[in-house]
Amino acid sequence: MLKRLLSLCLICSSAAAQTLSVTSPNKQISLTLSDDSGSPEYSVSFDRKPVIESSKLGFIFKAQPELSNVLKIVRLDTSSRNSNWEQPWGEQRVINDHHNELFVELQTQDHRKLNLRFKVFDDGLGFRYEYPQQTNSEKIEIVKELTEFKFADSNDMTGFWIPAKGWNRYEFLYSKTPLQNASHVNTPFTIRSTNGAHISIHEAALVNYPSMTLKQQRLGTFQADLIPWYDGSLAKLQGSFKTPWRTIQLASDAKGLLNSRLILNLNEPNKLGDVSWVNPGKYIGIWWEMHIGKASWGTKSNIPHGATTENTKKYIDFAAEHGFDGVLVEGWNKGWDGSWFLNGDVFSFTESYPDFDLPALTNYAKQKNVKIIGHHETSGSVTNYEKQMNDAFKLYKDHGVEQIKTGYVADGGKVKRTDANGVIRHEWHDGQFMVNHYLESVKTSAKYQIAINTHEPIKDTGLRRTYPSWISREGARGQEFNAWGNPPNPPSHIPMLTYTRMLSGPMDFTPGIFDLSFNGLDEDANRPQTTLAKQLATYVVLYSPIQMAADLPENYLEKKDAFQFIKDVPTDWEKSIAVDGEIGEFVVFARQERKSKKYSGEDWYLGAVTDNKARTIKVDLDFLEPQKKYIAQIYRDGEQANWKTNPYDLVIESKQVDSSSQLTIKLASSGGAAIRFKAI
Ligand code: NOJ
Ligand code: CA
Repeated sequence: MLKRLLSLCLICSSAAAQTLSVTSPNKQISLTLSDDSGSPEYSVSFDRKPVIESSKLGFIFKAQPELSNVLKIVRLDTSSRNSNWEQPWGEQRVINDHHNELFVELQTQDHRKLNLRFKVFDDGLGFRYEYPQQTNSEKIEIVKELTEFKFADSNDMTGFWIPAKGWNRYEFLYSKTPLQNASHVNTPFTIRSTNGAHISIHEAALVNYPSMTLKQQRLGTFQADLIPWYDGSLAKLQGSFKTPWRTIQLASDAKGLLNSRLILNLNEPNKLGDVSWVNPGKYIGIWWEMHIGKASWGTKSNIPHGATTENTKKYIDFAAEHGFDGVLVEGWNKGWDGSWFLNGDVFSFTESYPDFDLPALTNYAKQKNVKIIGHHETSGSVTNYEKQMNDAFKLYKDHGVEQIKTGYVADGGKVKRTDANGVIRHEWHDGQFMVNHYLESVKTSAKYQIAINTHEPIKDTGLRRTYPSWISREGARGQEFNAWGNPPNPPSHIPMLTYTRMLSGPMDFTPGIFDLSFNGLDEDANRPQTTLAKQLATYVVLYSPIQMAADLPENYLEKKDAFQFIKDVPTDWEKSIAVDGEIGEFVVFARQERKSKKYSGEDWYLGAVTDNKARTIKVDLDFLEPQKKYIAQIYRDGEQANWKTNPYDLVIESKQVDSSSQLTIKLASSGGAAIRFKAI
């Protein structure tokens, strides 16, 4: 338990410095806040070893005096909490929130105020600034947030990161470098120390504020670098504000980061009320055929239009026959002809192409108990989208569409909007303007009981807890890069995503490509650089409440045995446990299905994937319910499998197991294993 500090008002003389500390419930993490140096600084230790050394806090404003120097602690309050809460859908139904809290009021000599709130959990900590109203509803423009993360022993640390402020948003390959070579990074930023500490820096509850990136100011010291507006200012606020939580997840091994629920715990509870209309599930779609050049989004190229009534019916039939919930249709609406990624202003979100009959298709789907999944590509022309949003959501709502995939294909810094005076401005995808736009799209669609899956999104910061209709998002290199990316995603990509991007929340990666040689098997051809077993394992490894079976229906019919796993695997979980792994190298996840109309809740699933290196893993099945017997339906790499020359070698076998069993599984080079433990 937290040592109860002072909870009364402390009127400190300006001379009396304060040093306060809070520990995690299990005492492994300790946070210290001090105003010794005249300005507030915090430090963090893990297992009694320093992780973050005295690091600065505070702000520089455009108009108001800066809040950093001569800022003293004048009052503090502490509290603790240990409670459970339930997710409507998720990787885990019941989440435990156990933390100790420290709230501190700081003041300058001329009585300007800044409050800080810290929450310390066993899996890390978060802190946020709470800026109270100082004078009447003043306008506040932040020109710098001074938050620092000064890593202790940074010479011994390795960073796993993607660059910040890049042209391709978050769609970059991850780099693994000495920490000191990470100059300007996006979060989640994953770090490993030779002393065993595994660290992730991120943020939670990013609302009405710019996204935080991290810039290495001096070796080992990273400073918050907020994404600016078009005019260079960082945050435009009024009166009072709360920043997102700045988060530091800490674990003694790699899997510990995956088992952390810190980001969700720092978000506010559901604000949408009844969300029974938000449905996890699996979908197929008119999608991959465009990415591999077999069909087109538009109607004027020499490649056939994908989103025709006839083709959509074929997909609906396939979905109905094989138990899929949805069919995504891209390219159904006017605006795709020409260079659609440069011409977002001409998209209509209510008018279909003449060869696509929305009412007939939604009716047809309804008869077959399948839902059409809507699609809104904006190409980053946000004002054009905002103008049409309500009509567009209403149209889909009227036809029973309950999920929309949105898209914001535009280079970083090039999102286009028209301001109140009719002037065109270009914004970043992760500046305050777009942070607000993305959330607004979710809130507005929720009024129509429509859930949103954002592509080219703002990074996830756990807002699915507060807005559970924000059902998934992209925000990293997905499967599409294997169709046309240069280079395609390498063998390390999925294990790397697991310990970086996935720490922020669900990803619509779109696994399940079965034709791995649509361009042949040349090493440098565009194709998934994985085995078939790894495509299956990805359904368990990369969590999303909606999962696509991304390949063409005919490719599934050719490999019906392997397809069975995709048909069986659920997307909503009672429990998720990362069992084993190393950052960027391999990972093993076990998940228990959540009880629902379709699932008994008794089966478990396991997914294991490796990078280029073939390896043998041993998995104790002690996560299974004791005394219960299961048939393990195993989909694993065959003896000859490897991603380069023999990606299809797949063995499907069954074994009876229980919680005392151990499985030894060989993973091929860029291979995997997918297992259903069917309770008997
Ligand atoms: C990029 C998305 O990630 C992809 O899935 C989609 O097909 C295209 N935009 C077109 O909207
Ligand atoms: Ca994309």
